[in-house]
Amino acid sequence: MSSPRPIPPGGTIGILGGGQLGRMTALAAASLGYRVHIFTPEKESPATQVSDAVTVAAYEDEEALARFASKVDVVTLEFENIPASPVRFLEGKVPVRPGSKALETAQDRLAEKRFFNDLGIATAPWAEVASLSDLKQAVAKIGTPAILKTARLGYDGKGQAKIGPTTDLARVWADLRTERAVLEGFVTFEREISALVARGPDGGWAAWDIVENVHTHHILDTTTAPAPLTVALHDQAVAIAHKAAEELGLVGVLAVEMFVTADGRLLVNEMAPRPHNSGHWTIDACLTSQFEQVVRAVCALPLGTPRRHSDAVMTNLIGEAAKDWQTFLQEPQAKLHLYGKTEMRPGRKMGHVTRLYPLDSLRSKVH
Ligand SMILES: Nc1ncnc2c1ncn2[C@@H]1O[C@H](COP(=O)(O)OP(=O)(O)O)[C@@H](O)[C@H]1O
Ligand SMILES: [Mg+2]
Repeated sequence: MSSPRPIPPGGTIGILGGGQLGRMTALAAASLGYRVHIFTPEKESPATQVSDAVTVAAYEDEEALARFASKVDVVTLEFENIPASPVRFLEGKVPVRPGSKALETAQDRLAEKRFFNDLGIATAPWAEVASLSDLKQAVAKIGTPAILKTARLGYDGKGQAKIGPTTDLARVWADLRTERAVLEGFVTFEREISALVARGPDGGWAAWDIVENVHTHHILDTTTAPAPLTVALHDQAVAIAHKAAEELGLVGVLAVEMFVTADGRLLVNEMAPRPHNSGHWTIDACLTSQFEQVVRAVCALPLGTPRRHSDAVMTNLIGEAAKDWQTFLQEPQAKLHLYGKTEMRPGRKMGHVTRLYPLDSLRSKVH
């Protein structure tokens, strides 16, 4: 594969989206001497506080998109619920990494499940649901407990409903307010893990160690690095994420969330073609963070080594939890990251704290 020309430091990286992932990408970009231009529909956002330029406009505003494209050397994205058409529009004007194929596959749970199953990669059993009668048939086929999820626009457990043997299906279907959904069998998992890989435009790639994720109320609570896994399972998880990145022709970072079943199988839950909350630990515990790696990948620079120099536990600071910032600052092993969000809402990710431990000291404890 021929390598595209690198975008040298001094260039400008455009980012679609202005959340904390964009903020941390912008900070990494600044460290390497790049400028960042954020495109977001929101007036105030975490990323714009630390960026050189911002365009506040709707994603459908083609005039604003064209102006944005003329000012940047490359475009990346920091969340996947961006409509595909503006991304395709930008692709005609400037390199967009990752491109619309990765975005379209990852933003639709049905397309995503088909994508993995077509590669021979297992997921929970699932069925497409487009009506109440589909839902009844799907429940009969898959059984309960099950989870009904909107095909699009879900995050942090939003757009999901658990279904048991006595659930009123008509009510659940009406409440979900969608025309396309997926019913998934509920997985009784031993643990949840995620794999994170970076891939450059020349096909070069790098993977971080596999981590374990604990969710509370469907929102990521902690990530522990490394996950307690056999070498075989670890390598299998990395291979799944690499295969997916390769098939998507992805340039940037790809996170794949998976369940580990009690009998030691991996089932893919979902993926994100961007830096991921379960990769925040890499800022403080790895030689190259997921954010630096995105910058390197989209600018066609050599990828950095993802080597872990410390074990780590990352805890999300959700809502009120961020009020304890003074306590975290007093902990010698804790690294605090706040996202500059002015409004504290329940369930809102306000920051995270990563606690560092000596290399390989956690592996033995968890087992
Ligand atoms: N089929 C399932 N079986 C068991 N738990 C699930 C299943 N689907 C989702 N969950 C739980 O809900 C969490 C959030 O669901 P996910 O599909 O990852 O949606 P989101 O886009 O909100 O992250 C998962 O990390 C997991 O803890
Ligand atoms: Mg998830």
